[in-house]
Amino acid sequence: MKLLVTIGRGGTGKTSFVALMTKYFIEKGVTPLLLVDADPDQNLGEMVGVDLKEEGKKTISELLVQTFLQEGGTTVGVPPTERIESRIWTHGMYEGDDFDFVALGTKWVEGCYCLPNAALKGALGSLTKNYKYVLIDSPAGLEHLNRRITSKVNDIFDIIDPSKKSFHHIERAYRIAKEVKIDFDNFYIVGGFRFPEELKEKARESLRLEYLGKIARDEKVEEYVLAGKSLLELPSDSPAYVSIRKILKNAGYT
Ligand SMILES: Nc1ncnc2c1ncn2[C@@H]1O[C@H](COP(=O)(O)OP(=O)(O)OP(=O)(O)O)[C@@H](O)[C@H]1O
Ligand SMILES: [Mg+2]
Repeated sequence: MKLLVTIGRGGTGKTSFVALMTKYFIEKGVTPLLLVDADPDQNLGEMVGVDLKEEGKKTISELLVQTFLQEGGTTVGVPPTERIESRIWTHGMYEGDDFDFVALGTKWVEGCYCLPNAALKGALGSLTKNYKYVLIDSPAGLEHLNRRITSKVNDIFDIIDPSKKSFHHIERAYRIAKEVKIDFDNFYIVGGFRFPEELKEKARESLRLEYLGKIARDEKVEEYVLAGKSLLELPSDSPAYVSIRKILKNAGYT
């Protein structure tokens, strides 16, 4: 199992990147995949054609609250990790032909539910065990790194846009990941669709991290997102998808 996390500032193209990575792995036949939507805004489902509500599924936050907290917020003992794990399987997991899908949901970030936090970590560890790849889409910003729902990550993809803040974001993200002791193998920079290629040397030099390439601007992506259409259906010769194939090859996913 390999765990791939995509991070970056708001609107840089994280979620569409995760959706197109999914398309790539499906086409390569490296399944089963697990997609984890860690963004409370929950955009990933739509970009891969899954509506959890319609499927009758709950977010992990909803399940945690139901399992651990009574009305009023008091904790209900210390239920074993297995209890939340089996509830996630039955009530939270969308199971598709090529990929499964869970969403962390909102409640998660609203308070410090330390017990659920620990239980979720335990549950995620075994939930993710049987997948080839686990792809995590993150909310904008870096706060989520502190929650460390996973401590072992294979690749982090940080999507950069052409702003000074974006360069800072990457420096901070790298530092925080180290500080909170996320054990990662690779920390990659990916040029977002607004990132000018001329800046790639600057990115390489100033950040001293591996730059994998740029996601091509693609009208079709905009069109699909606007229409709520799954990016898995994007034509294979679509510029954004072609660029993502290259990026993933550069990261060694052939
Ligand atoms: N390759 C692309 N070409 C053109 N437009 C794109 C491309 N990728 C994404 N977009 C546009 O940018 C918008 C934001 O993309 P996306 O939702 O993937 O970013 P995000 O980083 O996940 O945003 P957020 O921080 O809100 O989660 C989309 O609505 C889409 O229209
Ligand atoms: Mg997003």
